[in-house]
Amino acid sequence: MRILIFLLFLAFCSLFLQCTKDKAAPIIPPSFDICDSINPISFTVNIVPILTENNCFHCHSPSPSGLGIPPNFFDHPSVVSNQDLILRTIQHDPSVRAMPYDTTTFTSISKLDQSLIDEFYCWVQSGSPDN
Ligand code: HEC
Repeated sequence: MRILIFLLFLAFCSLFLQCTKDKAAPIIPPSFDICDSINPISFTVNIVPILTENNCFHCHSPSPSGLGIPPNFFDHPSVVSNQDLILRTIQHDPSVRAMPYDTTTFTSISKLDQSLIDEFYCWVQSGSPDN
């Protein structure tokens, strides 16, 4: 009998804890996710132009269409298999070479517009669709 009362007491306490937890929850609104405002991103409409206009394909496509500098990427599967590395290079993460390179001096140039980096990031976040 004592055990039963003790168990009921524990059950009562856990209800109380649950209530205080519920009350404490939604003071701060969920943080704003940049991708909510810009998804869906299209590989063809958004990603290919970023990689074309910044000469990424020019240097990283295999010859004869490109210079064949590794890593080679030129279509959806090859971009997907290098997507994490590509993202870090355009974010200028210090663990990799900062991209893009200048096509004559072969040295890193300024970062892409943040909106383009966000588009690449959000495309990866959405599962890198071939759309
Ligand atoms: C002018 C030629 C050129 C252009 C343009 C260029 N790259 Fe590169 N990229 C290189 C060279 C050279 C390397 C270094 C290869 C090496 O030494 O291993 C490199 C390396 C990389 C790497 C591997 C980085 C690492 O540290 O392992 C990635 C990923 C990459 N580039 C992505 C890009 C992207 C994305 C763009 C466009 C925004 C771009 N590149 C534009 C020449 C270029």
